[in-house]
Amino acid sequence: MLIRRRKGWEIAESQATPEHLFFKRRDVLKAAAILPALAALGVAPSLADAFDDPSRALYPAKRNENFVLDREVTPERITAHYNNFYEFGMSKTIAEAAESLKTRPWTLKIDGLVETPQDIAIDDLLKAMPLEERLYRHRCVETWAMAVPWTGFPLAALLARAKPLGSAKYVRMETFLDRTTAPGQRQFWYPWPYVEGLTIEEAGNDLAFMVTGAYGKPLGKSYGAPLRLAVPWKYGFKSIKSITRVSLVAERPTSFWEHLQASEYGFWANVNPAVPHPRWSQATEEVLGTSGRRPTQIYNGYGEFVAGLYTSMEKEPLFM
Ligand code: MTE
Repeated sequence: MLIRRRKGWEIAESQATPEHLFFKRRDVLKAAAILPALAALGVAPSLADAFDDPSRALYPAKRNENFVLDREVTPERITAHYNNFYEFGMSKTIAEAAESLKTRPWTLKIDGLVETPQDIAIDDLLKAMPLEERLYRHRCVETWAMAVPWTGFPLAALLARAKPLGSAKYVRMETFLDRTTAPGQRQFWYPWPYVEGLTIEEAGNDLAFMVTGAYGKPLGKSYGAPLRLAVPWKYGFKSIKSITRVSLVAERPTSFWEHLQASEYGFWANVNPAVPHPRWSQATEEVLGTSGRRPTQIYNGYGEFVAGLYTSMEKEPLFM
């Protein structure tokens, strides 16, 4: 059943810029208003900083210099306060609401078609994984973009722990489900929990990154603490937040937005300036914190890493 309800990022192209300017005027000012007070207390911009995180000593991790940007890193005061996290509301300003998310204890389940199914406590996982920092571009289907210093580990390293069976063709990921702390999950017309998926080949690509930190610190809640995905060659909705379960499966999973509107938000969702969203162009993007728009790049500029994943797949709607 197709549920036609307006989503926060479901906007006409003509509205995209005004919405962002609206954010700039109102939300940045709002955030800016509380920052001096936090600074006076010696608290850094991210709201997450106000909380003691048991993994703090693991940060900052060493930067992997293989991942370079063609733009400045977007200031944290912007990226931490301009988010899509529907569990906490449909606006971009969910950072405060997301603080109600309890990220300890947090257990990640790995199951399905694996030799070694397991439940891992997040702090055990963090100690076991080789953490590194990567500078990644991040491009929302809505046409805004950012550049973020994520910390984390390759998704492939996580899968190696569980040893996928030969019959595993896809990786299905799921967000927590807790209607008490996440008011958005009381909106019954959404197919909670949030689900996303990759092919096993995509998941094995070095760019597919499990994020546990940002800006040299444990991940703030608005970014999807304590564990989110970053697949920077795809539109941002593929980068699922606050993951509790990773399942190896034989059938292609139906993701959250695909379930709601498959004609607009498909399984592949690879960035392509030449393939418009049905209701707006993808030719250009607005990098938050900068003025003007710049050309969108195919695979968001990561073609050298990922184009090979899609050879002989011309029949698939790779850019939808
Ligand atoms: N993951 C969950 N669980 N819930 C969400 O609403 N939104 C997606 C993605 N992951 C979303 C999610 C969308 S639409 C985008 S663009 C990115 O998260 C936004 O990530 P950011 O807020 O860190 O920029």
